[in-house]
Amino acid sequence: MSAEPQLPAFDFQPAKYNGPDKASLLARRKQVLNQGIFLLYKEPLMLVQGKMQYVWDETGRRYLDCFGGICTVSVGHCHPEVNAAVAKQNEIFQHCPTCYLNPVVVEYAEKLAATLPKPLSRVYFVNSGSEANDLAVLMARVATGNYDIISLRNCYHGGNAVGMSLTSHHTWKYNIPPMPGFQHARAPHPLRGGVPYDDPQAGEKYAAEIKELIRYGTSGKVAGFIAEPIQGVGGAVPYPNDYLGRAYAVVREHGGVCIADEVQSGFGRTGENFWGFQNYGVVPDIVTMAKSIGNGFPLAAVVTTDEIAAPMAGRIHFNTFGGDPVAMAQGMATLDIMLRDDTQGHCKKIGGQILAGLHALAAKHPCIGNVRGMGLILGMEFVKPGTVEPDGTACADFFERCRYHGLIVGKGGLDGNVIRIKPPMCITEKDAEFLLAVFAQVLAEMKG
Ligand SMILES: Cc1ncc(COP(=O)(O)O)c(C=O)c1O
Repeated sequence: MSAEPQLPAFDFQPAKYNGPDKASLLARRKQVLNQGIFLLYKEPLMLVQGKMQYVWDETGRRYLDCFGGICTVSVGHCHPEVNAAVAKQNEIFQHCPTCYLNPVVVEYAEKLAATLPKPLSRVYFVNSGSEANDLAVLMARVATGNYDIISLRNCYHGGNAVGMSLTSHHTWKYNIPPMPGFQHARAPHPLRGGVPYDDPQAGEKYAAEIKELIRYGTSGKVAGFIAEPIQGVGGAVPYPNDYLGRAYAVVREHGGVCIADEVQSGFGRTGENFWGFQNYGVVPDIVTMAKSIGNGFPLAAVVTTDEIAAPMAGRIHFNTFGGDPVAMAQGMATLDIMLRDDTQGHCKKIGGQILAGLHALAAKHPCIGNVRGMGLILGMEFVKPGTVEPDGTACADFFERCRYHGLIVGKGGLDGNVIRIKPPMCITEKDAEFLLAVFAQVLAEMKG
């Protein structure tokens, strides 16, 4: 067995943890918090401090955070410049609803809109990805006068009533009647979608599923179609290159607008482009964003065209915290850092390094059925060797073992068989080497 992989050196001294011990905290949490929330790992991991791409547990042990608080921490945990901008805004003016004029919200909206292709220019601020998708669905219905919304199987779009209706994973749905007007089209998947991605007509064949659903399952007119450019919770699933273009054409032919859910794939994470949809050469009508936008702060947005926004002005849009100066300061500082430091280029470079390493591991280990993704939104899928049958047990074992080597990754896919890699965008080449060394070590351990 090779030497234990070592975390790269990091010049930072975390504060000594003086809070409640783990066992008593766990007992108190079980008493007071809702039972529906889950803890990852058989032995729960307690995290008490974060700095850039690293987090510390209560004993002072450091971990490389390659899940980024579920794809949320973008420029780094407790980034000093973000913290300074927010502290300054907190001193000046903490809360100002949009019914008064305040400069921060306008300045940030201008900067955010400038990252999107025209005609996407009208910005609405909300507080979470679920809220953003709820608003996008409303917009699609108001703008088109149609009702049905199509999303894709294996998608995740949120936990509120609309988000749960859009989502297509039993894991995240309560056993209640779904809201009317939501339908799920068969989605591309590189192993189990039914059409292999190297079929030159893969995009066309998968898009035909949407047409069929619209023709058989709706009045023939739809309000909209929503898709994540890379399915996140579903296990880092990208589509054939021409799929979204063809899907958008079908939806528009049937009166609908196209929504890109960039909650996980946005803000340069895919490396090639700032927005995930740009990797497919399409321009959506509505874009929803959250997570990376605020580097860990509850901030989200919807950006659309003037044409779609105009009928929405027939009613008042109000959101108490949407556009709040402190949230705006957090978002603006985060975006400024991304643009100044070319985090997108960095995602491309480090993501490429990791993906190449994952391909090398997949070539050696038949339990890895597929590796995929772009930039720093990557997936490694476990299968029963020699088949495409998902192996959630092997994936869970791999996931648990990584933690004991000081590496935090995510897990996803309907069968929990995909390791998800979505670190803060500041991880370094040495961190990537560490991740790959841990992966190699864990795979060797699992072989026995
Ligand atoms: C693609 C996508 N959309 C929407 C959401 C919902 O975001 P939130 O949890 O902020 O409501 C998520 C959350 O994981 C997501 O991954």
